[in-house]
Amino acid sequence: MAEFSPATIDAPATLNHERLKQWVADIATLTQPDRIHWADGSQREYDRLCAEMVDSGMLVKLNPKMRKNSYLACSDPSDVARVEDRTFICSANKADAGPTNNWEDPTVMRKTLNGLFNGCMRGRTMYVIPFSMGPLGSPIAHIGVEITDSPYVTINMRTMTRMGSDVLTVLGSDGEFVPCIHSVGAPLAPGEKDARWPCNRTTKYIVHYPETREIWSYGSGYGGNALLGKKCFALRIASNMAREEGWLAEHMLILGVENPQGEKTYVAAAFPSACGKTNFAMLIPPRTFNGWKISTVGDDIAWIKPGKDGRLYAINPEAGFFGVAPGTSEQTNFNAMATLKENVIFTNVALTDDGDVWWEGMTKEPPAHLIDWTGQDWTPEIGRSSGRKAAHPNSRFTAPASQCPSIDPHWQDPNGVPISAFIFGGRRATTVPLVHEAFNWNFGVYMAATLGSETTAAAVGQQGIVRRDPFAMLPFCGYHMGDYFNHWLQMGALVKNKPRIFCVNWFRRNEKGEFMWPGFGENMRVLKWIVERVHGRTGAVESGLGWMPGFDDLDWTGSETTRAEFEPLMQVDAQAWSSELAQHGDWFEKLSDRLPRQFPLKRELLSLRLAHGTAAR
Ligand code: OXD
Ligand code: MN
Repeated sequence: MAEFSPATIDAPATLNHERLKQWVADIATLTQPDRIHWADGSQREYDRLCAEMVDSGMLVKLNPKMRKNSYLACSDPSDVARVEDRTFICSANKADAGPTNNWEDPTVMRKTLNGLFNGCMRGRTMYVIPFSMGPLGSPIAHIGVEITDSPYVTINMRTMTRMGSDVLTVLGSDGEFVPCIHSVGAPLAPGEKDARWPCNRTTKYIVHYPETREIWSYGSGYGGNALLGKKCFALRIASNMAREEGWLAEHMLILGVENPQGEKTYVAAAFPSACGKTNFAMLIPPRTFNGWKISTVGDDIAWIKPGKDGRLYAINPEAGFFGVAPGTSEQTNFNAMATLKENVIFTNVALTDDGDVWWEGMTKEPPAHLIDWTGQDWTPEIGRSSGRKAAHPNSRFTAPASQCPSIDPHWQDPNGVPISAFIFGGRRATTVPLVHEAFNWNFGVYMAATLGSETTAAAVGQQGIVRRDPFAMLPFCGYHMGDYFNHWLQMGALVKNKPRIFCVNWFRRNEKGEFMWPGFGENMRVLKWIVERVHGRTGAVESGLGWMPGFDDLDWTGSETTRAEFEPLMQVDAQAWSSELAQHGDWFEKLSDRLPRQFPLKRELLSLRLAHGTAAR
């Protein structure tokens, strides 16, 4: 068994961070890689890794005439989404992880993982990836170092984070970093041919130790399981850091709204996975909204800290988009399609005969022939008769944020952008109206804490089931949800100029099962109302749920929506809400003693308001 030391890990000559070198040596001794490569983040390194993966069959280089410098990876069919049931928060006390997270005793888990990681990188290269979540050196940013045996992860990390040698410079000799260890869990015997997509089909662990701020991920090469800066660090570990340090780490997009007078208002919005955050972040207003512009700061994660002026400031800790491909088209998200013209890694979409990519919803008519994400021939006829999709429903693109035409000029501002409103939305076929505004911060926290949404393909498991997804953070909060709600309430007490809180639902359906709201660019009408509410420039009607726009409070220029179509979209049905509130009750029981004490009372008030009018707040 090879013993590694700080002197034998091929560290850059200028690196004098002894703790980092010792940690890398320890992990190398445990995992036994054939070689170690320190990622410098250069284009040369990226191109070399891609060329190696093309040779090994892991990547297909796309036709440069259609997509310059872009690649397609297709995963093992067992490794297509986040694995929530294999994701663990290993806090010292079980109660601190809360009832919504899987927990294991850290000592037991360390033993299990030491066993699994022992020799797991044999036959492979170990990549050491220093990365910054947030602009390098920003007071809101934090650094991580991911060790992985996957070149696919390494190239994705280059697009999704600020990665490479510059990060080591910022770390200096003693900077703090979050250690992130990842292996596909598939060691190679001498001479053994590698799989096209190495992973461990039977054993997966995505493990977080909140007290020591460490991440260990085993067995999966996919997205949120393997790109550890994203869900594992920027949400699960960062939510713990944020709670301890008085800030917020949220599953939120950030966008700017500029009105024709040039006034800019930033909002942050939380929606569960695969519910349209990327589309909303890149929205193009209807043609008739002359002079209104939307700009994109981020599409998935926001780190939000109080500023000296009593406002909340947000950065996007990521540098790229890892977006859901199906449904993305020139019509639904023109800016995303423009972002995807070059330098993209596609995962699990279909390959066209001329070496480009395709997915369901990209064009009205599918191409006559494709190679689907499983490597089989696919034609519209095969699709119709077998029901097989050409692209996996959770297929993705990894693209640099800087390529997005709507990117906000301040997206890399180290101090972040000031947030004026929080928007929370789920995917709900019934019950929840198009938009409403909470009466106050605490009521808004209640509404976000009880958010329900139908499950999607972003996680392994049954789809279309309504589950509580508080703050769209159910799979991502790294500690007890009740403590998380209390943290939000405390932040409200601390912050002088609090953002207003709104709830939206783009997904309501009629009795025929059709969507009642067109969504996409039309969401601008709702967004404009929200912005005008923030500035006190538009009206609202008081309802049991909060403030709601009347038909005439929304800007309908250029729209065909009628008052008769609007009313059912906004309807608050007493019976549906009575059952919704019963579900809030069940949910609260689950959180028991750590539930904010004011929540059961708020539920009672809500119930009274909905049953008897609107007086009680
Ligand atoms: C994502 C997710 O990949 O939420 O962003 O699953
Ligand atoms: Mn997400």
